Amino acid sequence: MARQRVAILISGRGSDMMALVAAAADPAYPADIVLVLSNRPDAPGLDKAAATGVPVEVLDHRTFPGREAFDDALDARLHAVGADLVCLAGFMRVLTPSFVARWHGRLINIHPSLLPAFPGLDTHQRALAAGVKLHGATVHFVGPGLDDGPIIAQAAVPVTSADTAESLAARVLKAEHRLYPLALALVARGEAKLVEGKVVTQGIATSAGVLFWPPAPDI
Ligand code: GAR
Repeated sequence: MARQRVAILISGRGSDMMALVAAAADPAYPADIVLVLSNRPDAPGLDKAAATGVPVEVLDHRTFPGREAFDDALDARLHAVGADLVCLAGFMRVLTPSFVARWHGRLINIHPSLLPAFPGLDTHQRALAAGVKLHGATVHFVGPGLDDGPIIAQAAVPVTSADTAESLAARVLKAEHRLYPLALALVARGEAKLVEGKVVTQGIATSAGVLFWPPAPDI
C-alpha cells in the first residue's frame, strides 16, 4: 500500500501533531504528513511544525462568515494537498455534519479520556472527581456527535491518590504521543477498518496484557 497522505489540524500547542510528524520521519512509517493547518494564527504548534520542514497553513476561522464557509475552505485545502486522511490533534473546533460526512472513515481524532467516558472538556478534572482508577486516551474516527465515533485504539494509565488534574494530564499526554502514531499506522496500513460502524483491527496478536490499578498481587 502506498504511503497515505495525511493532513493534521491543530489549534494550539501541537504536541500530538509533533508525535505524528516524528513518527512519519521514519521511512518505514506508512504515512507522510503533507500539511499542518491551524484555525488559529497564534497556535504555538505552527512554528514547531514549520521547523521540521512540514508545510504549514493558517485558516483563521474568524475571517469566515460561518461554519459552513470555514469547513468548505478547509475541505478545498485538504483536496488541494491530496490528503487521504485527516488527523485532528487538539483541533478545538466543531466541524459541520456535512464536512464530517464527506470525510467519513478518513477523519481521525484523539481525545484525552477512555471514551465513551468523559467526552468534552476538562476530562482529567472530571476523571478525578469521578474517582476512576484508570483513565487514558482514545483515537477514534470522527462521528457526527461530540467526541464520538468508532474507536480505533485506546491507552490506559493509572490514576493515583496523589494526582492533580495537571499530573494526570501529563501522564495521559505521554500515552497520547505513543497512541496516536500507532493508531494512524493501523489505519494507513489498512489494518484498522470500519465495518458496520465499528473498527475491526487485523494483524494484531492477542495480548495477555492487563493493567490493574492498584496493582494486583500475584495469585
Ligand atoms: C490533547 O490532550 C488532545 O487529546 C486534546 O487536546 C490536547 C492537545 O494537545 N484534544 C481534545 O480535547 C479533543 N476533544 P496538543 O496541542 O499538545 O497536541
